[in-house]
Amino acid sequence: MLNIVILISGRGSNMQAIVEANIPNLNIMAIISNESQAAGLIYAAQKGINTIILSHKDFASREQYDLALQQQIDQLGKVDLLVLAGFMRILSNDFVSHYQGRIINIHPSLLPAFKGLNTHARAIRAGAKVHGATVHFVTTELDSGNIIAQVEIPVLENDNAESLAARVLIQEHKLYPAAIARFARGEIKL
Ligand code: GRF
Repeated sequence: MLNIVILISGRGSNMQAIVEANIPNLNIMAIISNESQAAGLIYAAQKGINTIILSHKDFASREQYDLALQQQIDQLGKVDLLVLAGFMRILSNDFVSHYQGRIINIHPSLLPAFKGLNTHARAIRAGAKVHGATVHFVTTELDSGNIIAQVEIPVLENDNAESLAARVLIQEHKLYPAAIARFARGEIKL
């Protein structure tokens, strides 16, 4: 059994795709959000999944928040994989080191291209012919860990950031569950 915790900040559509994939040998221990209003929390609660809100606004520093988050996660039991799914926080080095090899993220670009935010608009502005999404291990350097899986789609001539984002998102919803299923089958290690 692969025990996972999913961290979100908002919509949570990737989290939803993971839940709906019904991945064999997967146990979702909890969904944690740093935003109390995250829409994804409503979905998770409806599914009977343990939801936890830990607001960063209640902590004076990044380090203090990350330590509290770590304690919250570890208190759930043996966590095999921490899944970042639109978790809009930069994580401190101590936190990332603590979960080394068992923390992954999905990023909406073909890494190493377009690290950071606004990837779709930047891809269009750069005249990219292809774009996509990447599942990768999280390391202390932003969007730079080892790549686990990627999906590539063409950038269409009349694409804008919204249309491109929407087509990438459809692919994310397949890519992330598929990557997690490989973890559940024991096929992936850092
Ligand atoms: C996705 O585009 C993901 O690649 C990025 O943040 C977005 C989260 O969307 N990291 P959602 O909350 O999963 O709907």
